[in-house]
Amino acid sequence: MESKIITQLINSAQKAQKNAHAPYSGFQVGAAVLTEDGNIFCGCNVENAAYPLGQCAEATAIGSMVSQGTRTIKAVVIASPNDELCFPCGGCRQKIAEFADDATPIYLVTSTGDVEKHTVSELLPHAFRLSHDDTRHKV
Ligand code: THU
Repeated sequence: MESKIITQLINSAQKAQKNAHAPYSGFQVGAAVLTEDGNIFCGCNVENAAYPLGQCAEATAIGSMVSQGTRTIKAVVIASPNDELCFPCGGCRQKIAEFADDATPIYLVTSTGDVEKHTVSELLPHAFRLSHDDTRHKV
């Protein structure tokens, strides 16, 4: 993937990260997804006083993407609030897999600028899917 696009995705994720509502954990996360048609959707985590209702940054970005009528993720960036990589939680791995291929890259970025590339299948081997049909093209 072109490094210019990855830089744009990182910038977008880190911009959204600044808006994270994380008063309970103090752990602000940003995410950005690149779609098939070259658009970028970003999101941050949105916590709630009723703790289980909190939403991860990846879910916010994916929800925004789907709301705009796009269902194919070509790349993901997850921005960590500290100098350690923020690996996506199990639920978010499944949410990403819904709209991505096994080989889709997931770039993890630290606050100090370290970047590590993984893939969907590496982070979620044998992802649960209802069938081998590509459900992204169904309503
Ligand atoms: N969080 C994310 O937004 N994405 C992840 O992949 C891991 C965790 C959020 C959820 C919660 O608001 C905070 O980080 C601490 O768990």
